[in-house]
Amino acid sequence: MKIKAVTAIAAVLLSTSVFADEDAELVVNGEIEMVTKTAAPAHLSDALDEVLSGWRFRSDETQLMQMDDFDNPGMVAVDAAAEAWDAVEGSEGKSCASCHGDVADSMVGVRAVYPKWNDAAEEVRTLAMQINDCRENKMGAEKYGYTSGDMAAMEALISVQSRGMPVNVAIDGPVQATWEAGKDLYYTRTGQLDLSCASCHEQNYGNMIRADHLSQGQINGFPVYRLKNAKLNTAHARFKGCVRDTRAETFKPGSAEFIALELYVASRGNGLSVEAPSVRN
Ligand code: HEC
Ligand code: HEC
Repeated sequence: MKIKAVTAIAAVLLSTSVFADEDAELVVNGEIEMVTKTAAPAHLSDALDEVLSGWRFRSDETQLMQMDDFDNPGMVAVDAAAEAWDAVEGSEGKSCASCHGDVADSMVGVRAVYPKWNDAAEEVRTLAMQINDCRENKMGAEKYGYTSGDMAAMEALISVQSRGMPVNVAIDGPVQATWEAGKDLYYTRTGQLDLSCASCHEQNYGNMIRADHLSQGQINGFPVYRLKNAKLNTAHARFKGCVRDTRAETFKPGSAEFIALELYVASRGNGLSVEAPSVRN
C-alpha cells in the first residue's frame, strides 16, 4: 500500500531547524575561499532563489574538519591516489603521469565541468567513466569498481586540483537530452514513501529528518568523507542510499539513469565551489 506523500513526509520531518550557525563561511587552509551559498543558476530560478552547499547544514565540529587539510580525513585517500597516479599498471606499461604529467598542472578545472560530453565516444561521461576509460583503453589496466575506494580516491585527487573553482557543467547542446532525463528522475516520486529527490532536497531543506539536517543534496563536495562509514563516498553511492531510503528499487551506480541524475544534480550546483573531498556525518 502506498502511503500518501504528505503523510510520509510529515511522519519523518520535524518542522524546525536546530542549527544555529548557518552563516559560517568556508575557507580551507586559511586560503581557499569557498562559495557555499550563491544565486541559483538560471535553469533553477523558478524553484530556488539560492543554492547552498551541504557544508552549511553540518554541525560546527563537522564543518571544522573540512577547514584544514590536516583535520580532513578524506585527505588520506587523496595522498594514496597521488601515489596511484604515478604507479605503472596494465599491459601498456604506463601510469596516469606518463600521459598527463603532474596532476596539479593537467587536472586543474577538470572536476568543475564533469559530467561532460565526450565527442569521440559520443556520450556523456562522468569523471569515473573517464578515469576507467583511461585505465582500460590507454593503460590496459583493470577498471576500478564504479564506487570503489580506489575510484573515490582518484576522483578526490582530481577534484582537489579544482577546489574553490565554480561548478560549471553544461546543460545544453549534446548533453541536453541526458540532462532532461536526469531532471525527470529528480522530480519523479518513487517507492513506498512516494518521495522524489525534490520532496526532500528542494521542498524541505533546512528541516530535520530524523536526526539529520536536510541539505539541498548538492554534489559539489563529492566525493565526500562520511564520518558514518569512515570512508570516501561517491555521488552514485549516495544517490543509491537516498533512493533506498524512499523504499524504492534503486538504479545501479554507473547506470544510464544515475549518469543522467548526476549531470542534472551537478547542474543544480552550478556556481558553488568544487569542495571535494568534503566532510559529512
Ligand atoms: C596513454 C595515455 C594516457 C594514460 C596512461 C592516461 N590517460 Fe587520461 N587521457 C588521455 C587522453 C588522450 C585524454 C583525452 C582524450 C579523451 O577524451 O579520451 C585523457 C583524458 C583524461 C581525463 C579528462 C580530462 C578532461 O579535460 O576532460 C581524465 C580525468 C583522465 N584522463 C584521467 C586519467 C587517469 C586518472 C589516468 C590513470 C589512471 C589516466 N588518465 C591515464 C590519455 C591517457
Ligand atoms: C526522504 C528524504 C530524502 C530523499 C527522498 C532523498 N534524499 Fe538525499 N539525503 C537525505 C538526507 C537526510 C541526507 C543527509 C543530510 C543532507 O546532506 O541533506 C541526504 C543527503 C544527500 C546528498 C549528500 C549531500 C552532501 O552535501 O553531502 C546527496 C547528493 C543527495 N542526498 C542526493 C539525493 C538525490 C539525487 C535524491 C533522489 C534520487 C535524494 N537525495 C533523495 C534525504 C533524502
